[in-house]
Amino acid sequence: MAALMNPDSSDEMVDHLVDFFDQIAPVYDSWANGQHSRVAARLVELVKPKKGQQALDVGTGTGLVAHFVAAKVSPGSVMGIDLSDRMLSIARSKESKNTQFLGMAAERLVFRPETFDLVTMGEALAYFADPDDALNEAYRVLREGGRIAVSCQRRSLSTRAQDLFFQGLGPLARRHYLNFPRYSSERSRFGEPDVLPRLLESAGFEVELLTEMVTGGRAQDAREWIEMMAGAGPLPYTLIKALGPRYRLELEADVESAMDSLGDPDDSFRYHHSYLMAVGIRR
Ligand SMILES: C[S@@+](CC[C@H](N)C(=O)[O-])C[C@H]1O[C@@H](n2cnc3c(N)ncnc32)[C@H](O)[C@@H]1O
Repeated sequence: MAALMNPDSSDEMVDHLVDFFDQIAPVYDSWANGQHSRVAARLVELVKPKKGQQALDVGTGTGLVAHFVAAKVSPGSVMGIDLSDRMLSIARSKESKNTQFLGMAAERLVFRPETFDLVTMGEALAYFADPDDALNEAYRVLREGGRIAVSCQRRSLSTRAQDLFFQGLGPLARRHYLNFPRYSSERSRFGEPDVLPRLLESAGFEVELLTEMVTGGRAQDAREWIEMMAGAGPLPYTLIKALGPRYRLELEADVESAMDSLGDPDDSFRYHHSYLMAVGIRR
């Protein structure tokens, strides 16, 4: 099967990501008023887990998707895997009799072929060191007729305010002599309707359903905006947290004037959280 993209498997990038998820673990579930939980609930609603099924949640994080699936498949069970110990310990702390959480890479699952009826990957594919390998592994461990459900952020639906803010991060990092590992920009297109189905088909899945979830809102001011955007990914997080109080105030002033430069007050501090969700079948 031809790989659609080059793996970005540098250990440095994986360490950077795991570090980021370890650090944000305690606030992951409450980020943006529980946005991740709403996305997880929608993904599970789409794939319709059935009683008695065995499910695998890849890149489970704090187990949001896994716990929603567990409630539906009981007396079946859910295995959640991830590389971040702190995310996993939060997943384990949630009440549930039919879930189990293990430290494991999405690209090297230890399970036998055709073990699961359902595989879920909520907001995780774009973070994997090798997304093609992760999808191939999902295919391998699914039974014939089993389903995969994937959600990916759709970045092209970001607002002008978000675009402006994220464009400013590169120059900000350079100004402070900070350099972080980053995945190639192809990852930012994973949530586009012409890309996610192609990734799934390339791993052998037949795409049965494709849908979008778009929500949004407005931050009240630069401080609230910066706090929220810090949780949006490893680059903004590491950069924003690295700034001392003086530079943080300077950033707030820069963000205020960038928002003013948008012209229309209605555009200032406006954000979208947009996701593409796909369900595929393993034939
Ligand atoms: C944005 S979180 C998604 C968590 C959860 N699935 C949800 O829907 O909220 C992405 C997760 O993928 C995990 N991850 C990143 N690379 C991974 C890999 N190669 N194998 C397994 N998990 C990985 C991260 O540690 C993180 O917990």
